[in-house]
Amino acid sequence: MTSETVEPEFPVTLSLPGGGSLIVRPVRADDADALIMLYAGLSDTDRRRRFFTQYRATQGWVVDWIRRCREQGASIVAEVAETGELVGEAAYVLQSNGNGDFSLTVDAAWRGWLGPYLLDVLVEQAAANGVPNLEADILTENRSMQAIARRRGAAIGPESDHTVTHVVFGTRERMARWAEGDDRPRVLVEVPGGRWGRSPDLAAGGYEVLGCPGPGRRHEPCPAMGGEPCPLAATADAIVVAMPPGSADDLTMAHRRLHPDVPLLVVGGGAAPTGDEATGDATAGDEAAGDATAGDATAGDAAVCHLETGTTSSELLATLARLTQGVSGVVRTPR
Ligand SMILES: CC(C)(COP(=O)(O)OP(=O)(O)OC[C@H]1O[C@@H](n2cnc3c(N)ncnc32)[C@H](O)[C@@H]1OP(=O)(O)O)[C@@H](O)C(=O)NCCC(=O)NCCS
Repeated sequence: MTSETVEPEFPVTLSLPGGGSLIVRPVRADDADALIMLYAGLSDTDRRRRFFTQYRATQGWVVDWIRRCREQGASIVAEVAETGELVGEAAYVLQSNGNGDFSLTVDAAWRGWLGPYLLDVLVEQAAANGVPNLEADILTENRSMQAIARRRGAAIGPESDHTVTHVVFGTRERMARWAEGDDRPRVLVEVPGGRWGRSPDLAAGGYEVLGCPGPGRRHEPCPAMGGEPCPLAATADAIVVAMPPGSADDLTMAHRRLHPDVPLLVVGGGAAPTGDEATGDATAGDEAAGDATAGDATAGDAAVCHLETGTTSSELLATLARLTQGVSGVVRTPR
């Protein structure tokens, strides 16, 4: 998708290869019974993946769900033209951080393409409605939904644990944006797969955290590795690089070169670049935090710091606080 926002035109009629057609359109208030049938047809496993419980949606819940989608978000359904049966639904409801919390449901007999298709339409609708990101908790065992989110280049939120992955992706551009309604300082974590075991510590310490799967794990090319500024990194209050030794160095250098005013914390992996290596500004000091190795740059450049992998949570947070508050006179501009 380009950054041009095109409002989807409904209804869309899709002719099916075996004959018949599907109508794709926004949900209507009188769709409650058909939507109940769609949910009722899900297996126990699918219902748990959709609702996180074995919950069976009641008439009252579905009526309220449709109202919320219509008033505070959007819901796009796929209807079999010949029967009126609903065989898919993609929906989001606006959250206080300005992002849409999305869900996706496709009847088992219609899987194989309809899920990603409906999500694409929902993303266009969200973009047209001015919603910058869609996000959701996905059960880690839910491989097909994980694959769909991965293919959209989703960033990973800190709420993720071993059973749940919190995914966030952009609507105008595929790359997620920082949530507009979230005032916390922003930390971008570069880590293979996007999930870092220490991200919950950062969130508990008051940071908005997004994990980027890193170059090579993304379905979109990494802009920084392509020599272009990364919108997520450029507007972060700090970047944490938590990559294995060897793979961290190029990315660390790229961030230092492209986003010199964003503090950089390298955890384990490679060495923090000195100003010399990355920007031509040579400095090194230990002001950033305790015994951390800090190369805090001079005039105009933010600090760079290195921590060992086993660093305690409090040490990590203390280091980050000092980095984001600015050392050596580098003052972060408040938002
Ligand atoms: C999740 C769901 C909407 C996906 O819709 P779908 O039409 O089945 O989507 P697809 O069959 O095209 O599968 C999507 C991707 O997952 C991949 N996939 C499917 N099963 C997989 C598995 N077991 N392991 C890894 N990937 C898998 C597919 O290959 C496809 O990726 P590709 O296009 O790159 O090949 C559908 O399975 C569903 O309704 N599940 C129950 C409710 C649910 O889990 N909702 C999501 C939580 S909100």
